Amino acid sequence: MRESLEQRVLAMRAQREAESRRRRTRTITRRDGLRCEVVGMHGKGQWLLEFCGNDYLGLSRHPRVVAALRDGAQAHGAGATASHLVCGHTAAHDTLEHELADWLQAPRAVLFGSGFMANLAVVQAMLGVGDVCVQDKLNHASLIDAARLSGCALKRYPHADVDAAARQLAAHADGAALLASDGVFSMDGDIAPLRALADVARHQQAVLYVDDAHGIGVLGPNGRGSVAAAGLHVRDVPLQLVTFGKALGSYGAAVVGDEDLIAHLAETARPHIYTTALPPAQCVATLEAVRIARDGDDLRKQLQARIGQLREGAHARGLELMASDTAIQPMLCGSDARAMTMAVALEDQGYWVAPIRPPTVPEGQARLRITLSAAHTASDVDGLLDALAHAKEVVPA
Ligand SMILES: Cc1ncc(COP(=O)(O)O)c(C=O)c1O
Repeated sequence: MRESLEQRVLAMRAQREAESRRRRTRTITRRDGLRCEVVGMHGKGQWLLEFCGNDYLGLSRHPRVVAALRDGAQAHGAGATASHLVCGHTAAHDTLEHELADWLQAPRAVLFGSGFMANLAVVQAMLGVGDVCVQDKLNHASLIDAARLSGCALKRYPHADVDAAARQLAAHADGAALLASDGVFSMDGDIAPLRALADVARHQQAVLYVDDAHGIGVLGPNGRGSVAAAGLHVRDVPLQLVTFGKALGSYGAAVVGDEDLIAHLAETARPHIYTTALPPAQCVATLEAVRIARDGDDLRKQLQARIGQLREGAHARGLELMASDTAIQPMLCGSDARAMTMAVALEDQGYWVAPIRPPTVPEGQARLRITLSAAHTASDVDGLLDALAHAKEVVPA
């Protein structure tokens, strides 16, 4: 007899409940900068200071970006009305693509609805059966799904193990190869060994693809990201993902790089051609964010100061953070239960830090993913440090 899909789903939900792995969406009802009114368990709003978003430069509410969104909507309306190749590609899209390419010193850029879609696009458009995609084990879920969907062989090397990456590529000497890595790892905050990966890619005739969702705007000269911070160029990293929803404070994504590879994506990538283009107004806002980020050394300095303050303050209070120099500063908790209880203890003190559990992170490595923004003040970070120290005291190890 056929298995009931409904019954299976109910059993899976019950299992997640039993393992304390249910996930729930929190609703923000009002916002004042990084302070959010969040609906709690019993439907009542509670004001929390947020340390879990990815708005690393504070651009999502920057007056110039918000005004650009409003002006963009006035000029172009609410949506693109069609895909890029039909009639959805406006001058706003075009200008953003050109400015991104200019910023990252690459010949060309192509837009996507989101970073997730862009990753699906790159791997599917570049690889197929008989090819290989070699990836860091801690890469973002969208890169892993992308390889699975493309039909290529997927090989995942232990985190940051460049020799293992080289061995996996060498073992698949036939067929085309893509070596893909996050630039900054989203749940750990560490930076990939990009120079060594570029060497491996060159020796193995593979194309290196860097997903720089968390590096762009934050790292490197003029905020050009982890690739530029490593002193690499488009000849070393022919494809690079820029997402707009993190340090740029907007929404959407682009892949930037080699002229021919990008042209191929624009003409064949399914998540580019079979979907509505980004709203032009969103592109106008993103363009303004790019201009601020390019010129944003002051914002990067502010962010760096908060990162240093958090790490020094944690050390002084005997709080252990994972090794990271970026805006992502996780604190390992181990069990899911401990991560959840720590997050609740912080919330009771008015701080919102996301507990991250498997399958987003490996089993036994649940953590608090603390993120910092240039919009945080020194007293915000001091307050969080005190709250973390108190939570550690009241939550048993
Ligand atoms: C490393 C990485 N790549 C890609 C994505 C997906 O980007 P987007 O949120 O634009 O879909 C994310 C976002 O969570 C990410 O952390």
